[in-house]
Amino acid sequence: MNTDDVVLHARDIVKTYGGTRALKGVDFGVHRGQVTTLFGENGAGKSTLMKILSGVEQPTSGSIILDGQPVTFATTNDARDHGIAIIHQELSLAPNLSVRDNIFLGREITRAGGVDYAEETRQAAALLADLRLDVSPAAMVGDLRVGQQQIVEIARALSIDARILIMDEPTSALAAKEVEILFGIIEEHTARGVSLVYISHHLEEALQVTDHAVVLRDGTMTARGDREEIDLAWIVQHMVGEHFDLGSPPEGHAFGDPVLEIQDLTVRDPENPERAVVDELSLTVREGEIVCLYGLMGAGRTEVLEAVAGRGRIAGGRILYRGQQLGPESIGERIAMGIGLVPEDRQRDGLVQTMSVGQNLTLSSIRQFLTRGFLSRRKETALADGLIRDVTVKAPGPQTPIGSLSGGNQQKVVIGKALATGPGVMLLDEPSRGIDIGAKAEVFGLLADRAREGLGVVYSTSEVEECFSIAHRIVVLRRGRISAEFGPDAAKSDVMAASGEVVTS
Ligand SMILES: Nc1ncnc2c1ncn2[C@@H]1O[C@H](COP(=O)(O)OP(=O)(O)OP(=O)(O)O)[C@@H](O)[C@H]1O
Ligand SMILES: [Mg+2]
Repeated sequence: MNTDDVVLHARDIVKTYGGTRALKGVDFGVHRGQVTTLFGENGAGKSTLMKILSGVEQPTSGSIILDGQPVTFATTNDARDHGIAIIHQELSLAPNLSVRDNIFLGREITRAGGVDYAEETRQAAALLADLRLDVSPAAMVGDLRVGQQQIVEIARALSIDARILIMDEPTSALAAKEVEILFGIIEEHTARGVSLVYISHHLEEALQVTDHAVVLRDGTMTARGDREEIDLAWIVQHMVGEHFDLGSPPEGHAFGDPVLEIQDLTVRDPENPERAVVDELSLTVREGEIVCLYGLMGAGRTEVLEAVAGRGRIAGGRILYRGQQLGPESIGERIAMGIGLVPEDRQRDGLVQTMSVGQNLTLSSIRQFLTRGFLSRRKETALADGLIRDVTVKAPGPQTPIGSLSGGNQQKVVIGKALATGPGVMLLDEPSRGIDIGAKAEVFGLLADRAREGLGVVYSTSEVEECFSIAHRIVVLRRGRISAEFGPDAAKSDVMAASGEVVTS
């Protein structure tokens, strides 16, 4: 590595958490005015390394050199004072505060006598405009969709005017259009000399911005390359150690009876009841069928799935599960009937952060372990162990606290939890957020197996490649309506065009 252009250098970093050696002596350099991407499987140690560079965590041993001088960051404030900002993988916003207050939390702009709210509002509005987020600085963060929250998280990091900007999975909840906007901003920043670290499991996307790539595997650096030396195959090979391909859709098989029938479903925007976010939509899913729901962010995919799962109010139409019309059942009752949901927001709806991996996995299926009011711990543990294997969660065991898992491994727990309820239909809302390519293939294989046994699946995604790897049928949503349907042999560009996306290649 040419060390002249390395502005920040992590040297021989070791980090242990109890018995886990998350980093085993890693050297990592951040290049001045360029983008260094960090690749690696779930649990490889990427976030841990970034937390150390931004003062969130302290290394067990090793040193950090900034501009040739050794530094220590005891807190995130220390790192920030040195011009280092981080966008966290797990959203770290306060839901009960406004967008503006989140952006300036802990760094309020003051004027004689107090906080200068007017100036904060002005700066927040300018940042949101740069990011093309059409949300008021006064809006409560808790009312925003995950993708919008992610953009606020980005705005907060940009407001610091850092010289080193770390982005840990900044696009996992963003649609293609928003990713493009972010990439424009990255370009502006690097042109001004800002140095970037970028982490993503959207490998093709990350390749677009990469100047230098580093691959971590099990806490050790396995490869380093400059832009002209690397491609997708290079990344995957160093990440998982073999050639890899997400595969093609499951073989067609005979589908059974309709398991889910959505008829003329209408859902209105709670903020603006004039507007239908789902507009008289009808869709039938049969036993054993995997339907991919493709569309841009805001197309209505989440609202369709939430209506089926019993979240949110429907304004019209009806939903049948195994021929039986759903009424006012609670979410819990729908789960018991056989409707499983992997929600969009794992922090808010998917996981209980104070519980263990095992408890989270079995939380929704607890009924199965009750015999005359007694909980069978043995059965619960057996189920948890099986699920940890099935969805390939990397954790020492079911007792591990969920918060100590890497981001991608937490997402696998959310998927396992929905599978544990033994659903007849499984609804997955952008479930591949942050999971690595190997785990994604495992999850796809698992869903295909379950479909062969009769499970109906609705898989919602904004990544078109995923549709072609998993679905028997691709249904495209646009402005709350189905704009087109395709078989697995369709052309990618046709599917994208039907969503309203501008197809460039
Ligand atoms: N607070 C913690 N306590 C215990 N173990 C932890 C803690 N934080 C991280 N780990 C462990 O350190 C290892 C590396 O985790 P890290 O979050 O850095 O992975 P990652 O590469 O960011 O993965 P992902 O792609 O899933 O985000 C994992 O085995 C994880 O379980
Ligand atoms: Mg991570």
